[in-house]
Amino acid sequence: MITALASASLHEADSSARAGGSIAPLSDPEFAKFQRFIFEAAGITLSPAKKALVSGRLAKRVNAQRLGSYGAYFKLLASGADPVETQAAIDLLTTNETYFFREPKHFELLRSVASAHTGAAPFRVWSAASSTGEEAYSIAMVLADCLGERPFEVVGTDISTRVVAKARTGHYPEQRTRQIPPAYLKRFCLKGMGAHAGTLLVERALRAKVRFAHGNLNEKLPELGSFDIVFLRNVMIYFNADTKRGVVARVLGPLKPGGYFCIGHSESLNDLNAPVVQVAPSIYRKP
Ligand SMILES: C[S@@+](CC[C@H](N)C(=O)[O-])C[C@H]1O[C@@H](n2cnc3c(N)ncnc32)[C@H](O)[C@@H]1O
Repeated sequence: MITALASASLHEADSSARAGGSIAPLSDPEFAKFQRFIFEAAGITLSPAKKALVSGRLAKRVNAQRLGSYGAYFKLLASGADPVETQAAIDLLTTNETYFFREPKHFELLRSVASAHTGAAPFRVWSAASSTGEEAYSIAMVLADCLGERPFEVVGTDISTRVVAKARTGHYPEQRTRQIPPAYLKRFCLKGMGAHAGTLLVERALRAKVRFAHGNLNEKLPELGSFDIVFLRNVMIYFNADTKRGVVARVLGPLKPGGYFCIGHSESLNDLNAPVVQVAPSIYRKP
């Protein structure tokens, strides 16, 4: 039973987001400035079709800062005077869609590779671009199931501090946990009661095996140790070829020789000359 969760973790919406205010529509030159901002900050390429999305997502911050235009808000970001606001803009301009056990083939691979793991070293997996943590906890459930008492660790990293904080709670609305196999739900999740009805909490022992950190794939990453498998899924779709090349090189550094690399099913490593061998669609191995 969940009894002692801070209600703040359930209601992460910023109340300032509801502050009203009239803002001049986002002009094309202003949009171009935000395109450059998020490209420089995160390597994300926003197509012209994303103008309405940018306008909608940033409106609440323009209002919260009591600024009358997107241009004035951009000036605030560009001045570098408010790193917290810059992070808030990055958080809003990233797309964090994810769910438990997304793209199940990778979890079958994980199970077979981990089951064959020998030696005393912990089996380590990196969820690079972990969003709100569903991918990392799905990995941990499979590892706990097939490794039993043998040690393992899952590391999740993301550029958005908002989703990293959310991931650390391991607390999800029940309707977002439907993809979790029933046996894992029973074994690894606690059902919320009372004020927390309709939510699930990943149980403490499993949460202790999963660590989350802020990490920008487009810059030098924090020291994370080496990994048996790396998941880099559904984030390269936002990157151009040059950015992808740099990100893949950075992410493959900590992958052990013989380790596996999983990318999203709609992504590809074509033309990147990545030093890995394809073993199945969206699954690669480091020689
Ligand atoms: C669509 S989600 C994918 C989550 C998960 N990997 C999955 O497949 O379900 C993409 C995530 O990538 C993160 N992201 C975008 N650019 C990034 C960067 N430069 N460095 C690290 N994370 C980034 C976003 O914040 C977002 O949470």
